[in-house]
Amino acid sequence: MVNRVSRQLETWCDLEGKVVLVTGASAGLGREFCTDLAEAGCFIVAAARRAERLKSLCDEINGSSTITQAVAVELDVAAAGEIIEATAQKAWNVFGRIDVLINNAGIRGGTKSSLDISQDEWEDVFKTNLEGAWMLSKYIGRHMRNAGQGGSIINISTGFGLNRVQQHGSVAYASSKSGMNHMTKVMALELGRHKIRVNAIAPAIFPSEMTVEIFKKKWFRDVAKKIVPLQTSGTSDPALTSVIRYLIHDSSQYVTGNIFIVDCGATLTGMPIFSSL
Ligand SMILES: NC(=O)c1ccc[n+]([C@@H]2O[C@H](COP(=O)([O-])OP(=O)(O)OC[C@H]3O[C@@H](n4cnc5c(N)ncnc54)[C@H](OP(=O)(O)O)[C@@H]3O)[C@@H](O)[C@H]2O)c1
Repeated sequence: MVNRVSRQLETWCDLEGKVVLVTGASAGLGREFCTDLAEAGCFIVAAARRAERLKSLCDEINGSSTITQAVAVELDVAAAGEIIEATAQKAWNVFGRIDVLINNAGIRGGTKSSLDISQDEWEDVFKTNLEGAWMLSKYIGRHMRNAGQGGSIINISTGFGLNRVQQHGSVAYASSKSGMNHMTKVMALELGRHKIRVNAIAPAIFPSEMTVEIFKKKWFRDVAKKIVPLQTSGTSDPALTSVIRYLIHDSSQYVTGNIFIVDCGATLTGMPIFSSL
């Protein structure tokens, strides 16, 4: 017997016609989100600063489609408010609406301690990871509200922004992402009346430009095997892409204000007390 739930879940792979704006689309996780969502039938507005990389992404997606399914929009999320507002308008105009905003653009910043990090370094991280995500949500959110169409905003946070594990040299990064988690909840509260849902995903460490060096280290793979409850660090597709598809699809229509931790259980373990490490 096919009930309402199974009908909804079956169509989860099909997000035909949804328009998704992805920031940080030129590399790493953002690029992967774009290709996965294009496969699911979404129209993609791919945003970042490196135009050449966005072009190659859009060429790849459009090359296997009979229509223009992906369009690049150059965007620096750390730019001034009026530039973000104008870029949000431009992005909206590409397909005449945006159903989903994925605030994925982010930087790790350096690894200096809180006593050594400079104000410029702190500001860079906060402008990119927190202020940029807020401003884009604000201007795209206004369009969604005015169009009366609802929407889904998905913020890509991190396990280090949670009240679980902390890491040396991450004072700006972790604080900015912790702020993003709080912003997610307040915006979910305020935008719910407009049927705009706001959720965040807190991933552990997945392969990308940002994490390329750590994945080369043998100790990292050993530690992952020994202390991560699921004994793997996983791959962002399907670990993150599946949650993103869920948050776009109507089967998550009652889900807002959540931080989805996707970490194979890594942030549960605390101090790894393994004499053999
Ligand atoms: N990979 C992981 O393990 C992991 C874990 C937890 C959380 N995250 C989060 O996931 C997101 C993506 O990370 P990633 O690992 O894919 O990093 P990445 O490979 O370094 O890619 C970062 C992306 O963000 C864009 N970006 C950076 N600054 C920007 C700015 N000012 N304006 C617009 N775009 C900007 C970059 O594009 P341009 O340089 O072309 O602008 C690039 O496309 C980040 O928010 C990160 O904090 C990642």
